[in-house]
Amino acid sequence: MRRFLIAGNWKMHKTVSEAIELVRELKNLVKDVSDRDILICPPFTALYPVSKELEGSNITLGGQNMYFEEQGAFTGEISPLMLKSVGCSYVILGHSERRHIFGESDELINKKVLSSINHGLIPILCVGELLEERENGKTKEVVEEQIREGLKNVNKDAEFVIAYEPVWAIGTGKTATPELAEEVHLFIREVLSDMFGNEKASSVKILYGGSVKPENAAGLLKMENIDGALVGGASLKAESFAKIVKFDM
Ligand code: G3H
Repeated sequence: MRRFLIAGNWKMHKTVSEAIELVRELKNLVKDVSDRDILICPPFTALYPVSKELEGSNITLGGQNMYFEEQGAFTGEISPLMLKSVGCSYVILGHSERRHIFGESDELINKKVLSSINHGLIPILCVGELLEERENGKTKEVVEEQIREGLKNVNKDAEFVIAYEPVWAIGTGKTATPELAEEVHLFIREVLSDMFGNEKASSVKILYGGSVKPENAAGLLKMENIDGALVGGASLKAESFAKIVKFDM
């Protein structure tokens, strides 16, 4: 059985003091949750203070990105060792904003995925089509390529998570319907099955992301192949994120 994972991606929001305030409130609201996993991914500058706040709590910590090298002359980058050293257990990789604003390629994302696994971090590989690609009937083709390239040379025993985020649904208020999301999630599981075998494919968590809110979370999460959510905007307020975490099964 796959456990639900509800992840908050804070993107480029929250100073250190704002982050601490948010996490204190959230900790309290979700302290009794034990049947699902909770993850928050604050910006790099807030990771360490937030990790101190999270000691002993049921919330885990992740980075929003990383470079694949351990150290070196890579100005502005953060390494997997650095993420580990501040208490991260997950890292989001290949987010559509990394792909489309910062020009990250599948090849680069794959290097990051392999490096994160080698360093004991669980990558959350994000995939998803642009509106134009969906309108041209290319959704599955695009998603399959992102999965196959992003997970190239990944060992089947490695732990990883996939997040399906249709780009047209991110931050737009336009959520994919549960049925439409489920169709792509099922397809992703089929691709994983072809790559890694059935057993592995059925154990991988596939999260949905794109305008998830307290009002639509339960509808999406009741679908068979949707194992959690990657939440942007609605994770910036403790109350709305906690409501999503506590959705009725
Ligand atoms: O990583 C999160 C996604 O990009 C979704 O963002 O919930 O603000 O649409 P959103």
